[in-house]
Amino acid sequence: MTDIRVLSDEAQFRAHATVFRRAMHWGPPSDDDWKVVQPSYEPDRVLAAFDREEMIGTTQSYASSLVVPGGAVVPHAAVSRVGVRADYTRRGVLTALMREQLSSLPDPVATLRASEGRIYGRFGYGLAGRWRTVEVDAKRAVIPGEMTGRVRMLDQDTADKLLPELHEALGLSRPGQISRWPGWWARARDRKSVAENSVTVVHSGPDGDDGFLTYKVTEEKDFKHRMSIADFEWANDDAWRDLWIYVTRLDLVDQIEDDVSLDDPVTWLFEDPRVVRTKDVFDEIWLRLVDVPRMLQARTYGAAEPVVIGVRDRLLPANDGCYRVSPDGAERVEEQADLTIPVDLLGAVYLGDTTFSQLAAAKRISGTRLRDADALFAVDRKPYCGTFF
Ligand SMILES: CC(C)(COP(=O)(O)OP(=O)(O)OC[C@H]1O[C@@H](n2cnc3c(N)ncnc32)[C@H](O)[C@@H]1OP(=O)(O)O)[C@@H](O)C(=O)NCCC(=O)NCCS
Repeated sequence: MTDIRVLSDEAQFRAHATVFRRAMHWGPPSDDDWKVVQPSYEPDRVLAAFDREEMIGTTQSYASSLVVPGGAVVPHAAVSRVGVRADYTRRGVLTALMREQLSSLPDPVATLRASEGRIYGRFGYGLAGRWRTVEVDAKRAVIPGEMTGRVRMLDQDTADKLLPELHEALGLSRPGQISRWPGWWARARDRKSVAENSVTVVHSGPDGDDGFLTYKVTEEKDFKHRMSIADFEWANDDAWRDLWIYVTRLDLVDQIEDDVSLDDPVTWLFEDPRVVRTKDVFDEIWLRLVDVPRMLQARTYGAAEPVVIGVRDRLLPANDGCYRVSPDGAERVEEQADLTIPVDLLGAVYLGDTTFSQLAAAKRISGTRLRDADALFAVDRKPYCGTFF
């Protein structure tokens, strides 16, 4: 019989980290690891499954905020450390954890990163945003013109102090973007100190610091170097372009790799568009609408005739029902639905990564008025988070 408990003290948190890490085939946290990981345990947000007194499964969430289409910022749970001990899998332990977590979250929406694509749909999470890994041929990359601002390199201590403040000051604007919590920065600092040649540069424009980039350069062979960009945020186009000018003009770098949104305009920076190659497209954001009425009201809609959407949610039946969506907003109604969609797929269209018509073509949803629904949920920017957790 699985018993789900909320954990509250440090010894339990460390046991939680150990169970999760074992599920991922990693060893338990060392004392040094634990110093880094411990700040990411927030009381009230850590759940574990027990068989009598043995911990057999884990999940937790971090309190954060998420930008939705139209620019509103809503409270958001960043769900992480999902794992079940290998000798207890496929007996419903994760199902019990997810059920408890979703019914107790204070936030109207949750997102996570999935280790496998088949795990989370059944719990109402939909694939809501993907990233594109691009490789830039730095030796052939020419960005015409000069920088408009200044790029300066920081030492590690200054970067550690400045980046959390700067990230907050840059603000949240991109749908899919999330705020970062103190434990996130502790992990980022640790990753940087492990990669001892990690470098942070900050861009300043006329109004002060307005962008930053963290990267690492690795020598592959015979002075051939590859740069990996680990973190890149900017407040305006000038900062974005200047930071690309900086990385493409660095000596000794042959290839630059970065994860960007599906519609990132990086290709158009260069005289020769072929210097940018898409190496991969991978899922980034899995999104769960926890409070469907609130989340439908939180975003804005495009111009189209109103559509009545029937939502089905097996795990959180309070969301079940029909919602009339129009350019003025969304409200719950007692009307016949034009189309019906399970909550995981509503999560998939919510930020604009996919459309109702695409889901209907794939026989994942059925109904009428698909074009109007597409136009209502249309976005002018593809979602991209840019914060891994
Ligand atoms: C993924 C994991 C947490 C699932 O835990 P679990 O307790 O076995 O899950 P449940 O028994 O509650 O499974 C619920 C359903 O999901 C299915 N399922 C669970 N994990 C699955 C997977 N990896 N692939 C396909 N189906 C899966 C089960 O078959 C079951 O289906 P059913 O209801 O039709 O029988 C566990 O396998 C694990 O810890 N894996 C390694 C770590 C990991 O990948 N964690 C996720 C990090 S994002």
